[in-house]
Amino acid sequence: MTEPTAVPETDPAQEESAVTADAPVEAPTATDPSPSFTPARVGVIGAGYVGLVTGVCMAALGHTVTLRDIDARKVAALNDGGVPIYEPGLDDLMAEHRERLTYTLSLERLLERSDIVFIAVDTPPSYSGDADLSRVMGFIEELATLGGDSRHILVMKSTVPVGTGKRVRQLLEARGLHNVGYVSNPEFLKEGDAIADFMNPDRVVIGASDPDQADRVAGLYEPLQAKILRTSVPTAEMVKYASNAFLATKISFINEIANVCEEVDADVAVVAEGMGMDSRIGKAFLKAGIGFGGSCFPKDVTALKQLAGNSGYHFQLLTSVIEVNELQKRRVIGKLKKHLGDLRGTRIALLGLAFKPGTDDMREAASLVLAGRLIAEGAQVVGWDPVVKSLDGVSGVHIAATAEEALEGADAAVVVTEWQEVTDLEWTHLTASMARPVVIDGRNALDPELMAVAGYTYEGIGRLPGLGIAAQEQR
Ligand code: UDX
Repeated sequence: MTEPTAVPETDPAQEESAVTADAPVEAPTATDPSPSFTPARVGVIGAGYVGLVTGVCMAALGHTVTLRDIDARKVAALNDGGVPIYEPGLDDLMAEHRERLTYTLSLERLLERSDIVFIAVDTPPSYSGDADLSRVMGFIEELATLGGDSRHILVMKSTVPVGTGKRVRQLLEARGLHNVGYVSNPEFLKEGDAIADFMNPDRVVIGASDPDQADRVAGLYEPLQAKILRTSVPTAEMVKYASNAFLATKISFINEIANVCEEVDADVAVVAEGMGMDSRIGKAFLKAGIGFGGSCFPKDVTALKQLAGNSGYHFQLLTSVIEVNELQKRRVIGKLKKHLGDLRGTRIALLGLAFKPGTDDMREAASLVLAGRLIAEGAQVVGWDPVVKSLDGVSGVHIAATAEEALEGADAAVVVTEWQEVTDLEWTHLTASMARPVVIDGRNALDPELMAVAGYTYEGIGRLPGLGIAAQEQR
């Protein structure tokens, strides 16, 4: 693949035009590199979710990878072949490429063994809503104690506010690390699909002020034959925030459409289908439900709003996106009250606790808000999830061993996470075990008509209760 020349940060007029437009091709395998491919020595700072997936996938592409984490137990577990996170396919890939993967506590060892060093540390929200960069800056300070040279390029994978690259550069200069390079290369990995997203990316964004550094980082992805967008560091940083904020906006938008659908006898699933058929809109991220959660959207939308605010701009739209998302979870409580009346003393089953299927991640999971709210209303809450086995931070929730146990004697069930294990339940046989067969489907995952036929009082989000799409559309 011919790469366009990287454009220096000082040339905004040209930077957006430097895009390759090669057609996407099938994800290659490590055994099928292009002839020009040269394996590199890669380091990864932080063996968390992003760091592990990046490191393991880089090893699968043929690079030699050293991952460094400060958590001794995690490093020991990784060295014993353990996988500290739940991500489908990661364990197999780790095992397959273990000869190219080294896990260490020592930054010195990582620097000896690596030329291109990804930074994949946490950037959690701070009290002010700004991203907390202390772990990123802490790493640079640590690097300064050991020195670095022109071999080393730091590559930012963590999601960091626009302007972080400039701050890191200033710190590197101040600590005498003039020769250490810096590139922004944001991740677009969905939990549960992270390996596929890495191996078959829609695009790889590389923000750099030095064309040679951009080339070296782009070279790592050579086997993927992916579309590469080369740009300045701040623009790359903004691509990441803007992408997540836009996807979150799509979700809040369709959730508001769903709420209006409930008032006017329309079906949001069909509305979304009709909208998605317009190629300008696209069908992705138009699934109405109880809102977005996870480690990225809530944090990144807030951080972008905060970033704009810090520069004196009030990001009106994102303020609404966040507010709609908060209210959306709470609408479930209203639906439960509509069917059950006062919730005091009722038993409510929450089916699915993780923020989405395919992960054990509980960050910003709707289940936490719902459980807390229901307990405050005086309800008894019983939860079940195929992977998550505790609801830390909310006391008084009983975790059932099976979905059937959770439903036993329940006055209502709420589908919080659309796990297949939830949609595949023998719903027709479970009506009798519930005290009152009320199901609030927070993810529109079940068939309304089948649920009605089975005897449930069923209500989704933005759909008419008890009727399937076809029946609703014929009304
Ligand atoms: C997201 C981005 O997709 C990824 O590119 C980024 O790097 C990290 O953040 P992730 O948080 O893993 O990935 O989950 P994603 O699958 O995008 O879903 C986020 C949330 O939105 C989930 O709570 C999901 O249930 C919700 N969602 C998603 C909807 O409510 N409706 C939709 O149509 C899509």
